[in-house]
Amino acid sequence: MAQRQGPCLFLPIVGSLVRKLMSKRISRVSFYLLPLGLAAVFIYICDSFVSKVAVLIPFRNRHEHLPIFFLHLIPMLQKQRLEFAFYVIEQTGTQPFNRAMLFNVGFKEAMKDSVWDCVIFHDVDHLPENDRNYYGCGEMPRHFAAKLDKYMYILPYKEFFGGVSGLTVEQFRKINGFPNAFWGWGGEDDDLWNRVHYAGYNVTRPEGDLGKYKSIPHHHRGEVQFLGRYKLLRYSKERQYIDGLNNLVYTPKILVDRLYTNISVNLMPELAPIEDY
Ligand SMILES: *[C@@H]1O[C@H](CO)[C@@H](O)[C@H](O)[C@H]1NC(C)=O
Ligand SMILES: *[C@@H]1O[C@H](CO)[C@@H](O)[C@H](O)[C@H]1NC(C)=O
Repeated sequence: MAQRQGPCLFLPIVGSLVRKLMSKRISRVSFYLLPLGLAAVFIYICDSFVSKVAVLIPFRNRHEHLPIFFLHLIPMLQKQRLEFAFYVIEQTGTQPFNRAMLFNVGFKEAMKDSVWDCVIFHDVDHLPENDRNYYGCGEMPRHFAAKLDKYMYILPYKEFFGGVSGLTVEQFRKINGFPNAFWGWGGEDDDLWNRVHYAGYNVTRPEGDLGKYKSIPHHHRGEVQFLGRYKLLRYSKERQYIDGLNNLVYTPKILVDRLYTNISVNLMPELAPIEDY
């Protein structure tokens, strides 16, 4: 992995991040950030870093979100003194979007790059509203995006695990990652919740309002719902150790971009064979 040494910036944590949602071209973002030493697949070398965090972003067709996302996240992660890198995992091909399988691919690729302490599973359209929402991992898997503006800042249900979550490498390996069989929108985060609990973990969340998130508005461009999710969720336990990190084989195309590693991959069900349930 290309490593770049940057200065240690100790910007103050400010609490609430009230920001206008800006759409800037990605080149402009690089323009702003690079002079600060905020380069690319950048590993920050700095004595006081507490944790090494890989941020995985599943992606298709949302180019205009990336600059907003990076402009928002990079200063926050820096303030938190995390050592971090972004991986954008883009799905090509014609299959329905498979967020979970993209995360599994991103995890495997990130592991080849470096020794990470923590992996954050992050939707590109979710922006934390408070920079005290610390993006490190702990003893238990963490659900960062507890209060979304689109759900009126209320947890939609107790087992909600969507948007942004984080697990240590060890925790993610132990639960066998995400399921690969969720094609289309919905359900994979509920399955992750089940996996985490079957493996003996509980989920922690940020206190109070720290877990507030703003969503970048967008149109659902023909993203299909996964109607088979209820059936699969009934067999979460039986499927956990036969579908996940351990049955997935794929061939990625990898480009190391200035701000992130671009992993593009054509996903198909045959890449993660499993007996039918
Ligand atoms: C998880 O939470 C349950 C219910 O609060 C508790 O009984 C259990 O001991 C906790 N498990 C761990 C591993 O902390
Ligand atoms: C990633 O790389 C592919 C080429 O392999 C390119 O078509 C795509 O636009 C890139 N995506 C992002 C988000 O940079």
